[in-house]
Amino acid sequence: MSWLCPLCYSPLVQTAKSFCCDNRHQFDVAREGYLNLLPVQHKRSKEPGDSGEMIQARRAFLDAGHYLPLRETISDVLQQLSPEVLLDIGCGEGYYTGAFAEVRAGKGGETYGLDVSKVAIRYAARRYRGVRFCVASSQRLPFADASMDAIIRIFAPCNAAELARVVKPGGVVITATPGPRHLYQLKELIYQQVELHHEVSEEMPHFILKQTLQPAWNMALSGEQAVTLLQMTPFAWRARAEVWQQLNHAVHFACETDFVVRVWEREKDNP
Ligand SMILES: C[S@@+](CC[C@H](N)C(=O)[O-])C[C@H]1O[C@@H](n2cnc3c(N)ncnc32)[C@H](O)[C@@H]1O
Ligand SMILES: [Zn+2]
Repeated sequence: MSWLCPLCYSPLVQTAKSFCCDNRHQFDVAREGYLNLLPVQHKRSKEPGDSGEMIQARRAFLDAGHYLPLRETISDVLQQLSPEVLLDIGCGEGYYTGAFAEVRAGKGGETYGLDVSKVAIRYAARRYRGVRFCVASSQRLPFADASMDAIIRIFAPCNAAELARVVKPGGVVITATPGPRHLYQLKELIYQQVELHHEVSEEMPHFILKQTLQPAWNMALSGEQAVTLLQMTPFAWRARAEVWQQLNHAVHFACETDFVVRVWEREKDNP
């Protein structure tokens, strides 16, 4: 498996400390070992993706094990499927990616992690040395057609056409999205009336839905942990100062999780 140049889409070849294509576009390997494949002209903002603050909050929360059952659910699916080449898109600070690489340890093959946030990839690459990380956008995956056996997408944006291009026929995409009651108690503090998250079925042209799993459990959090959870959610900016104070002073905070994990198989005929 090789990377593709994000500028001209020809394969990148590794030299001493960088990767280069036939058209002499060059990408250096960072000190932490990751590859930055997000050219400045593809950036929509100066620092795209999640900020350092959000990444730190997510790492603290995930390290405490609160979402471990979700990681185990997906790891079990991967154990059964045994993909050789795997990519985690929007991988963040690598909590899931690192575990997926472990599932595959000793079986050969490769695990890739991709995120548009450079801070996130720096955190990920420092900790999970067995994964090949890159800064890139999921809108343009820097990988060849039909090069991945599995792509994982956990709470991250994607481009369905790119998934269909990069996953091998017969390979899979595994998605994790919020179910109706996900973080209900946290939302209750923020919204006057909580709308249960009714998911519109995902559009995945060229894939067939093979399996749906619904891991859900109750988290017994401290107030401080609930603050960290709120910081890593997209509705943090809606929370009033009183909500932050209330959580900060809370001793216990009980909150539901509710996830939908779907396994999609790539059709065998070409698009
Ligand atoms: C809600 S976080 C989920 C992170 C990780 N999958 C997890 O569950 O811990 C969404 C991630 O998608 C990344 N992201 C946002 N837009 C992206 C894009 N266009 N391409 C790749 N990653 C993107 C963000 O930087 C962030 O790390
Ligand atoms: Zn090039």
